[in-house]
Amino acid sequence: MADFALVADVLWLALVSIRSLSGLPSSLIRRRRPFQDTGCGPDYCRHMPAQMIPYTQERLDPEEQWRRATAFHEKMERRRSVRFFSNDSVPRELVELAIQTASTAPSGAHRQPWTFVVTGDPEVKRQIRVAAEEEERVNYEGGRIPDHWREALEPLGTDSNKQYLETVPWIVVLFEQRYGLDSDGEKVHHFYVKESCGIAAGIFIAALHHAGLATLTHTPSPMKFLTRLLGRPGNERPFCMFPIGYPSDDCVVPDLRRKDLDEVMVEVRA
Ligand SMILES: Cc1cc2nc3c(=O)[nH]c(=O)nc-3n(C[C@H](O)[C@H](O)[C@H](O)COP(=O)(O)O)c2cc1C
Repeated sequence: MADFALVADVLWLALVSIRSLSGLPSSLIRRRRPFQDTGCGPDYCRHMPAQMIPYTQERLDPEEQWRRATAFHEKMERRRSVRFFSNDSVPRELVELAIQTASTAPSGAHRQPWTFVVTGDPEVKRQIRVAAEEEERVNYEGGRIPDHWREALEPLGTDSNKQYLETVPWIVVLFEQRYGLDSDGEKVHHFYVKESCGIAAGIFIAALHHAGLATLTHTPSPMKFLTRLLGRPGNERPFCMFPIGYPSDDCVVPDLRRKDLDEVMVEVRA
């Protein structure tokens, strides 16, 4: 396929050159489809002409639209970051499905620059807890985080104790791929990596919540220890960690207020 693309590129360039020299009609040139990444295999850095397929989306009547939109909003309003978990088990397949859902996220040039690393292994979870607590002790008790950051965290009641990292049945660490590697081991450029991973993380959180699971968006900074503990390659960097399970019976969350619509939305008119 890659060879075909190369030949097509060469022919097209030859045609363009001939046209500019001989005055061939430009419609002949324009008929060629734009090149697009296929993003569908190990050689996803190669290029081939775009393959377009029909796309339809169910058209809802306005009443149904409102019903669904309101139900989704109410559901998402109930999502909270949980820091007190039960050790009840969660089927691995539910976590896998949430990862598949997250991986539907749009991404720069469809590179999908993410790896979701999953562990339910008690020893790995213990090692993650020990390393995370070490970093967080330096943050909270060693003065690594500045005062304004510490003040912002105070209402949340967080500290360096990360017991939940051992309690939860699953931990998922989302790694951003700073660049990809093709089947020849050549570097592949990734675009908008942080934006893409942020969107995938958001969809992941929503998918877990939709499945009746709880999680915490956790960034025990710096997170380099996760690369070492989870044996990830040099092109990957920890983006976010998600302990996943059910809230404990005595779970509490900070009494936070979310911004109203007029605080987060601005309409512009000409
Ligand atoms: C990028 C990001 C990093 C976060 N890191 C942490 C963290 O390391 N530890 C923690 O307890 N909460 C962390 N949180 C959770 C926030 O404190 C929480 O989302 C916020 O207080 C709002 O609460 P809610 O998620 O219950 O609505 C993080 C959230 C985000 C979006």
